[in-house]
Amino acid sequence: MDGLVRLPGPKLDSDVSVEAAIFRRRSVRRFLKEEISKEALAQILWAAQGVLIGEHRTVPSAGGLFPLEIWVVIGADGVEATGSGIYLYVPAENGLISRSRGDFRAALAAAAFGQQSIAEAPVSLIITADYERTKARYRQRAERYVHMEAGHAAQNVYLQATALGLGALAVGAFDDDAVREISGAGENHAPLYIIPIGSAPLNLPAVF
Ligand SMILES: Cc1cc2nc3c(=O)[nH]c(=O)nc-3n(C[C@H](O)[C@H](O)[C@H](O)COP(=O)(O)O)c2cc1C
Repeated sequence: MDGLVRLPGPKLDSDVSVEAAIFRRRSVRRFLKEEISKEALAQILWAAQGVLIGEHRTVPSAGGLFPLEIWVVIGADGVEATGSGIYLYVPAENGLISRSRGDFRAALAAAAFGQQSIAEAPVSLIITADYERTKARYRQRAERYVHMEAGHAAQNVYLQATALGLGALAVGAFDDDAVREISGAGENHAPLYIIPIGSAPLNLPAVF
């Protein structure tokens, strides 16, 4: 695929149990000016939408139709060895395709009614959905299915970020048109979540 930036493969083991990650998960709204590693970004994207074996991904999807896309907004010095800009995650290739260059964090924060966490975080994910993909089979139930899927993906992001010692925040309050325009997602894609991610200034709670 032309212009594809390949990501490191996912790790399938860590010192943090699923139970500990669930226990430690919090919404983090302050972020340090610290870049995150390419491995960490790759691991979080894999958790959000990565391909496993065959038709299986890290999250369930009604009918295996996979209506979600993940856009990655990387700030200046936000991710190790990766220029600032907006990228589309391509699960089947475990890679990123560059869509626009530049630091769009301030614009994205403004589109989310000035939420500073988005301006501060080194990277934000935008989860968008193509409802038509699911509607073709599930008609009037499609909208709820797509929203459930975004929830599955966002929770995986929270838990994976926590397991990596990073903070994340599920943001649902934003202007849809402004976020769609910044992301470069097509007309048929609705933004559902912005998830800023980064190192948190306070230690996340310890596991007892
Ligand atoms: C659908 C949804 C939308 C949310 N939107 C925002 C938001 O726009 N801004 C924000 O700061 N937090 C947002 N949150 C995070 C909640 O405020 C947070 O989960 C809640 O206060 C509980 O805190 P905790 O996640 O640390 O347990 C959202 C959470 C969900 C599930």
